[in-house]
Amino acid sequence: MDWTTLKEECARCSRCALCETRTNVVFGVGNENADVMFIGEGPGETEDLKGEPFVGRAGKLLDDMLSLIELDRSKIYIANMVKCRPPKNRDPLEPEKEACLPWLREQIRLVSPKIIVCLGRIAAMSFISPTFKISVEHGQWTERDGVKIMAMYHPAALLRDPRRRPEAFEDLKKLQEAISLNLQDNK
Ligand code: URA
Repeated sequence: MDWTTLKEECARCSRCALCETRTNVVFGVGNENADVMFIGEGPGETEDLKGEPFVGRAGKLLDDMLSLIELDRSKIYIANMVKCRPPKNRDPLEPEKEACLPWLREQIRLVSPKIIVCLGRIAAMSFISPTFKISVEHGQWTERDGVKIMAMYHPAALLRDPRRRPEAFEDLKKLQEAISLNLQDNK
């Protein structure tokens, strides 16, 4: 599938019940040829209204975090595990994640990133390990099919508990280091 078809089909998706309560499908945003892809959990209220990922308070913090390591949305691609807002921002249910995963897999195939960063436990449990413990395993690299993957605290978790921010900063520095190593490899 190409980007145009993928976006059109995803915009019409009715594979799970979240389609009944959504305002907009929140497809993804950023550089479609990025080396680094961020995967969040699912749209919140602002994202549902605007149709764009990470544009609420957590998104503002994500932008601030990215700027600490000289990244912005023009250099990365951002998508969510589920493309439609779960009511009252509850965690997405297993069948919702399963129904939505083919869209994300197709986005990953098209972007073909060298590095994937899972934002929070929900994405990490799907992409790293079903028993992933974010407080223990954040910042640890793993590799799958030649793609480096790590999870960081979700910015919403950092808003709730700012004491975790120094750990998030360490993880950002690890990401920055991996990006510069990747650039050297590509020379
Ligand atoms: N939280 C997420 O996981 N994704 C968004 O797009 C917004 C908030």
